Amino acid sequence: MAKHLKDLPAFEEAKQLDDAYVMHTYGRLPVEFVSGSGAELVDSNGKVYLDFLAGIGCASLGHADPVVAEAVKAQLDRVWQVGNYYYVENRGELARAISDLLSTTTDEVGHVTGSTGSVWKTFFANSGAEANEGALKVARRWGERELGGAAGIISARQSFHGRTLATLAATGQDVFHKSFGPFPDGFSSVPLNDIDALTAAVDAGGACAVMLECVQGEGGVWPADLDYLRAVRALCDERKLLLVIDEVQTGFFRTGAPFSFQLAGIEADVVSMAKGIASGFPTGGVAARGVYGDLLVPGDHGSTFGGNALAAAAGRATVEQLVARDMGEHVIAAGNHLAERLASLPHVVEVRGRGLMRGAQFDLPIATPLVDAGLEAGLVLNHIGDSILRFLPPLVVTEEQIDTMIDRLDQLIFKLT
Ligand SMILES: Cc1ncc(COP(=O)(O)O)c(C=O)c1O
Repeated sequence: MAKHLKDLPAFEEAKQLDDAYVMHTYGRLPVEFVSGSGAELVDSNGKVYLDFLAGIGCASLGHADPVVAEAVKAQLDRVWQVGNYYYVENRGELARAISDLLSTTTDEVGHVTGSTGSVWKTFFANSGAEANEGALKVARRWGERELGGAAGIISARQSFHGRTLATLAATGQDVFHKSFGPFPDGFSSVPLNDIDALTAAVDAGGACAVMLECVQGEGGVWPADLDYLRAVRALCDERKLLLVIDEVQTGFFRTGAPFSFQLAGIEADVVSMAKGIASGFPTGGVAARGVYGDLLVPGDHGSTFGGNALAAAAGRATVEQLVARDMGEHVIAAGNHLAERLASLPHVVEVRGRGLMRGAQFDLPIATPLVDAGLEAGLVLNHIGDSILRFLPPLVVTEEQIDTMIDRLDQLIFKLT
């Protein structure tokens, strides 16, 4: 028997088919991962990597978590998809667990302090972009009902909200608006952390919602100031605008708190989520608080697959495990350790982010070569632009694994500079 998958001719052939027949919208790195466990991935040669990307922020409990795998396997043998006209097992439990997490209060670091007692209702979708589409509909319904038809959505520069046309319109980066227009109307963006700019945009009239990431991920790991978030909350209250927080990347303990808006001691009105919700099973959702949770009624919105039985099983098991394993406390400690160690590296001029969502800013354009060299050295790294490395490890990553990664990265930086 061949020792590794790569020795099998069938594997080589499958790779060629992938090259020839899959639409390549992502640049592909020269490695084939075939299995994983915790924060480790294994390639087709049996080489083990420390993973600091987690499937782009999804495998929070680590790869192939056995409890989640069991829950999905049990569901696989019963029923997968019945359609949203019907009750779906585990979905109510998942939605209640999400509501409990959304109503949690924390201090500025993420330690849990209590609960707001709010009840949140979730619409389940399949991805982050789709979750945001749902959020936009909730906001526009609010504008129709309460704000004389105001439909404007104000987002932040450098934000990222997805690849559908409306979520691209909401994304405050010009680079994403060069093709594929015309985009839906009613979107504008203002600089993050500038409350005067946001107030002026609101004063211009026509807005129904402000939409923000509390830590911008794809834009380069830029955190919103907590005071800014409080001021945004006050502005939205004063003008009756909905505060929509995109927690697709930051949600489910990525920043230490269950959701990143909680670090500012505020409540959001509408929250979109995806990546960390179901350990990598394609799932997303939009939750709305109190009366906002009843703005969409039958016929307003839908998704054939959204929240199906497999997704609900994966999501429920994931969220319950995150809570049972007290993941927030682990993330706070491991995140601080990661930030401290990153700051000690040569050529790192700034470390940004919160919890286990960190960006290291280099004073040289070495981020891309570091990602390539990282693979050689058994590290899965990710870069944003030429000079930022972004770290989104599985939340279960240990301090020892962080130290090993930092030691290897230190050597790579030395070699490349
Ligand atoms: C903050 C944020 N919103 C939305 C999205 C889009 O999610 P998806 O790729 O699942 O559609 C992403 C993806 O990276 C994201 O980081």
